[in-house]
Amino acid sequence: MTKKVMILPGDGIGPEIVEQAMAVLEAASGKLNLGLRFERGLIGGASIDTHGEPLTDAALEAAGECDAVLLGAVGGPQWDTLAREIRPEKGLLKIRSGLGLYANLRPAILYPQLADASSLKPEVVSGLDILIVRELTGGIYFGEPRGIRTLENGERQGFNTYVYSESEIERIARSAFEAAQKRNGKLCSVDKANVLEVTVLWREVLDRLAPEYPDVALSHMYVDNAAMQLVRAPKQFDVMVTGNMFGDILSDAAAMLTGSIGMLPSASLNESGFGLYEPCHGSAPDIAGQGIANPLATILSAAMMLRYSLDMSEAAVAIEAAVRKVLDQGLRTADIHTEGCQKVSTAEMGAAVVSAL
Ligand code: IPM
Ligand code: MG
Repeated sequence: MTKKVMILPGDGIGPEIVEQAMAVLEAASGKLNLGLRFERGLIGGASIDTHGEPLTDAALEAAGECDAVLLGAVGGPQWDTLAREIRPEKGLLKIRSGLGLYANLRPAILYPQLADASSLKPEVVSGLDILIVRELTGGIYFGEPRGIRTLENGERQGFNTYVYSESEIERIARSAFEAAQKRNGKLCSVDKANVLEVTVLWREVLDRLAPEYPDVALSHMYVDNAAMQLVRAPKQFDVMVTGNMFGDILSDAAAMLTGSIGMLPSASLNESGFGLYEPCHGSAPDIAGQGIANPLATILSAAMMLRYSLDMSEAAVAIEAAVRKVLDQGLRTADIHTEGCQKVSTAEMGAAVVSAL
């Protein structure tokens, strides 16, 4: 049976890293007879340049008709002066919300080979394996009303609305409890319940559900403390669950514990397990086109796609093992390079993973 994957390379380093991930997927597909087929679409600045908007309804629909979506990254300085509504980032937000991808899983794993690349001491991060579960289609990112208005005194005022309904909290909480059940049974919910009512409700819902998951130990932490604990003693965490904006911030912090944000994959899933897979890093316009970006986050995202949406875990395991093997061989892109290792380009890293497969 063939499975269709929508490829959305996007902007900046997106096309370069996605090309390598596709080469890895094609190699895995050939070797394990997966029958993967690819379609290509436009998102972000690439779509703005062609269609005048960051994601067309047709592209959204085409993505939804595939079995999974693999995305590079969006955005770049050439589109920063456009009106807010048609910026590249809006394309990303539109596909997340349009496909109902509320559960964003961001695993932060320290590969032992990269312990020296982390800005933290090796003993603080060695063995690190945490999963951030970020709510992705609600919260302050999507709350209405929002905008910039002019007050009676002529001064302008920016405003956003931080809202979560109980059902939105409950479904992301269940994703997190279930993830914790499959891991080490520890779930830390991150909120700001000492100040924000919306997260008082968040905490209440988590507490209400906890008895249904007796094998999971639930704890709560304020977001400021969580940021501190992530850099002080990150190994205390197993699964963390939080809202859209806190998750955005904490996942970047967690990324750097692992040596480079260039290593972090992500999965964004809807109720039926359909998913969009993308690296956690952005489009890095400053290094785009130079062939030095790290393709591993995208390659690892492709592995997550095989596991979560395409029911091909054997291939996922093979790709993850291939990534470990190239790290063992001492191959490093610039972002994870340390002394004594061999510096390689984007394409060389991709090719090494393909041959390790
Ligand atoms: C991310 C990114 C996006 C976000 C941006 C590009 C809109 O930072 O995926 O973490 O804020 O969600
Ligand atoms: Mg982010």
